[in-house]
This record gives sequence, structure tokens and C-alpha cells, in this order.
Amino acid sequence: MAKSVFITGAAAGIGRVTALKFAAKGYTVGGYDVDEAGLASLRDEITKLGATAVTGHLDVTDHDQMVTRLDEFVAAAGGRLDVFINNAGILVAGPFEELAVPVQHRMIDINCKGVVNGLHAAHPHLRRTPGSVVVNLASASAIYGQAELAVYSATKFFVRAMTEALDVEWGPQGIRVISMWPLYVQTAMTHGVSTGTTKSLGINLTAEDVATDIIAAVEPSWLRRRLHQVHFPVGRPAKLFAAGSRFSPAWLTRLLNKRLAGTE
Ligand SMILES: NC(=O)c1ccc[n+]([C@@H]2O[C@H](COP(=O)([O-])OP(=O)(O)OC[C@H]3O[C@@H](n4cnc5c(N)ncnc54)[C@H](O)[C@@H]3O)[C@@H](O)[C@H]2O)c1
Repeated sequence: MAKSVFITGAAAGIGRVTALKFAAKGYTVGGYDVDEAGLASLRDEITKLGATAVTGHLDVTDHDQMVTRLDEFVAAAGGRLDVFINNAGILVAGPFEELAVPVQHRMIDINCKGVVNGLHAAHPHLRRTPGSVVVNLASASAIYGQAELAVYSATKFFVRAMTEALDVEWGPQGIRVISMWPLYVQTAMTHGVSTGTTKSLGINLTAEDVATDIIAAVEPSWLRRRLHQVHFPVGRPAKLFAAGSRFSPAWLTRLLNKRLAGTE
């Protein structure tokens, strides 16, 4: 029986490219999203690669739907859930006080509650599957709170904390829990976004870059497995910021973030 991967937010961007990469490796791919037209074309592309695709409508904020879709997928995949990817997310940028509260709440609903729904519903399936892995899409904005992205950045700190906590809780159950920390990626999410840091740092990564690193993180080298890496910064700047924030004093990290945000 082929290995299986369930991906939320798979119709576009990072989720879509990741789905295609797993399909190319022979995985049974579950692609779920609110964008059904995007899912239909994804299913066609996966089928052309000779892999099995299961797709369906899923709003990650709906826990009952998450349970139903996961149960359906795992049944179709022969009872196994090897990889679960919490990828669906939204970003709204701007000065905190200018973004309406319902807009801020929607980011929390999808980026935080959606992740809780997914992890809770996936757990029994992950526990039954030897060597299972959870991949949570965090962000380089989980390194230091980001100006003009305050709530988005806070949701990614939430994802970071969930990853660290469940790595410790679920490790003994044989479930690896990891997170990806890309800096800005050229997808619909960042299209038209202009903040101090998109101007100073640029939007340079591609969905392909992130998907490549997800595959490598899911199937790590012997050394990486021994080092028990939990967070995976994507791209050189994110790697530098992640390493720097561990060693530089708090005042220096803050100063760097002010400079990059253009508020100095
Ligand atoms: N693009 C970036 O710069 C960047 C950087 C770091 C991390 N990330 C994270 O990577 C993940 C994917 O981002 P992307 O850039 O591919 O975004 P994207 O906008 O290209 O794709 C997101 C997908 O999620 C789906 N989605 C949105 N709300 C949903 C919901 N309620 N239920 C189910 N699906 C839903 C969308 O329909 C879309 O297909 C997100 O969690 C994002 O925060 C993105």
C-alpha cells in the first residue's frame, strides 16, 4: 500500500506544489481546500502523474468537516496517514489599528483554530501509522513579532508553540511533529502585499522552494534525524534570522526588526 499525505489548502500555492511533489514520489495524495475548481485541476494533474488523488471540500475552521474528510481519506488510503500537512492559511497585512477586528479574527480562526482542528482529528490516524509525520506551516514571522503583520505573525507563533508542545507529547507515540519557517514566498498570499519588510527583504522564495524543503524534512537524512530538528527555516535569510535570534541579545534582535520594518 502506497504512503499517504493529507494536505489542507492544497488547491493553490505551497500546498498545491507540495501535493504534486508527493504524488511524483508515489504517495496517495489527499488535497483539501475551499477552492473546488483549484482542487479539480489538481486532481487531474496528480492523475496524469500516475498517482492516486482524493480531493474534497474542506473549510479548516469546521471541526466536524475535518473529522469527516480525514476519515474518508484514510479509508481510501488503506487505513494509513503517513503525513499530515497543516498548510491552509491566510494573511492580511496593514497597520494593526486599521485592520477591522473581524478580519483579524478570521486569521486566528483559519491559522490557529484550523490547525487545532486538523491536529485533533488527525491524531488517531497518525498514531495508528508507524513513522507518521505532521508538518505545520509556520513562517519566519514566528521568529520575532512583525510590524504590519501583528496578528498574522502571532498566529505563526501559535503554530510554533503547537509544534514544540506536540513534538514533546507525541514523540513517544511515534509521531514526528515539525514546522516550516519560510520567509516571503511568491504566491497569491503575498500578491499585492507591501510592508516595510516586503520592501527591505523582498519576496524571493517560490512555492517550489518550500515544497522541496517539506519533502526533505519529512524524509530527513540520518544526521538530521539524530539532531531531532523540529523547526525548518526555508531559504538562507530565514536560516540566518533563526540562528541569529538564538544568539543575539534581545535589544539587537529588536533593533534589526525595527530597521527591516523601516520604523527607525
Ligand atoms: N506566501 C508566503 O509568503 C508564506 C510565508 C510563510 C508561510 N506561509 C504559509 O504557508 C501556507 C500556505 O500559504 P500560500 O502562500 O501557499 O498561500 P495561498 O494563498 O497561495 O494558498 C492558500 C490556500 O489555502 C486555502 N484556504 C484558505 N482558507 C481556507 C480554509 N478556511 N479552509 C481550507 N483552505 C483554505 C486557499 O483557498 C488556498 O488554496 C500558509 O499557512 C501560510 O501562512 C506562506
